[in-house]
This record gives sequence, C-alpha cells and structure tokens, in this order.
Amino acid sequence: MRKPVIIGNWKMHTTAVEATDLLADLKNELAEVTDVEIGVSPPFVYINTARDILKNSNIKLGAQNVYWEPAGAFTGEISAPMLKDSGCDFVIVGHSERRHLMGETDEMVNKKIKALLNTGLIPVFCVGEKLEEREEGTTQTVIRKQVESGLDDIPVEKIKEIIVAYEPVWAIGTGKTATPQQAQEVHSFIRQLIIRLADAAAAEEIRIIYGGSVKPDNIDALMTEPDIDGALVGGASLKADSFAKIVGFKLQ
Ligand code: PGA
Repeated sequence: MRKPVIIGNWKMHTTAVEATDLLADLKNELAEVTDVEIGVSPPFVYINTARDILKNSNIKLGAQNVYWEPAGAFTGEISAPMLKDSGCDFVIVGHSERRHLMGETDEMVNKKIKALLNTGLIPVFCVGEKLEEREEGTTQTVIRKQVESGLDDIPVEKIKEIIVAYEPVWAIGTGKTATPQQAQEVHSFIRQLIIRLADAAAAEEIRIIYGGSVKPDNIDALMTEPDIDGALVGGASLKADSFAKIVGFKLQ
C-alpha cells in the first residue's frame, strides 16, 4: 500500500512572521495525523526557522529548488548537501514555473534529481503539459519525454524513492482543476512508464501525486482515483485550515 502524501508548495510567499505563524498552526492542527505523510516547502530563507518549529513533528520539510553541484562558485545557488544540512527531507524539482519562467530544461531536472538521490533527499519531480499541448492531443508525448529525460540514467532501485507530481500547467493557480478522470488517465500512464523504465514493483511502490488548484472541496474526488497518491498544493497550502482540510481528505 502506498502511503498518501500531501505537500504544500509555498512558492515565493510569506513574510518571516507569516511563515512562523503558519508553521506553528500547521504543527498544532496536524499533530494527530498518522495515515498521511505531510510536507511543507517554504522559501529557502525560512528553512532553518521551519526546521526549528517542526522539530519532533509529523511534518516533513522541503525546499522548492536545488542546484546539482555540491559546492563551488555558483552565485545565488543552493546545493543538496546544504539543504540536507538544514534539515530538509525532500526537494521539489522541475516545477512548471521553473521550467517555463526560469528556463529549466529536462537535462537540468535530471541532474538535480541525481544530486538529491546522492544526498539522501527525496525528489518531488514535477511534470505536466501546457494547455496548447493538451488541446493538440500531445499530452502523453510531452509527459513521456519529461519522465524519460528526468529519470535518465537513474538506477532502478532509486526510482521508487522519487515522488512524481503530475501538474498540468493549465491547472496551476488558475482555479481550473483537472477532473479526477483526466488526472487518473495521466497518472496511470506515468505508472506504465515506470514499469518500462524500472520494473513492476517500482511502479507499484512509487507515489504519483496531483497538483493544480487542489482545494478542500476537490481533494476527496481526486484521492478516490486508484493512481492518485496525494497532492502538491500551492495556494491552498498558505492557510493552515485549508491545508489541514486537504490533509484530512475522505475517500468517497
Ligand atoms: P496551485 O499550485 O495549487 O496554486 O494551483 C500548485 C503548484 O504549483 O504546485
């Protein structure tokens, strides 16, 4: 059985005070949860604060990006060993905002995933098609290329440690969620790809989560689909009560 995982992606939001309050509220509201793995990914500058607040809690800590070299003259970048050292458990890579606004390529995403696995951090590996690609009927081609390139040259036994996040670009921050059926179709397709890239056991074990306008009122239906193992939540993760409601989803 795959344990469901719900991760908050705070993006470039919160002040230090807001981050501290949100973390303290989440720690409090989610303290009893044992059947769902929970994660939050604040901006880099609040990671040490988050580590201190979340100490001895059931909430895992993540970052939103990483550079693939361990150290060196790379002004402005943060490495996987630094994030490990700062108490992170996972790191989001290949988010569509990084791919499409910051020019992150499949090759860069692949290097980042390798750096994280080598450091003992869990990659939350995002893939997703744009609206025009869905309309042209090329969703599967786009997803296949992103998954194959992102996982290129990664040992079979490591692949199952990764969390894949399917985030259709047209659903991110738009209020337009993919229907549970649309998401399930792509999740199942990704699981089939993992059978080919790794093996059936890895495909059974790997968690594939959905992201794109996930809210308390649509999480239940999404989680009922057999290949949806959780959610990557943007906007609705910035309020403790809405994030807690998402974590408390009910299967329909
Ligand atoms: P959203 O963002 O929930 O605000 O649509 C999701 C994401 O980008 O991870």
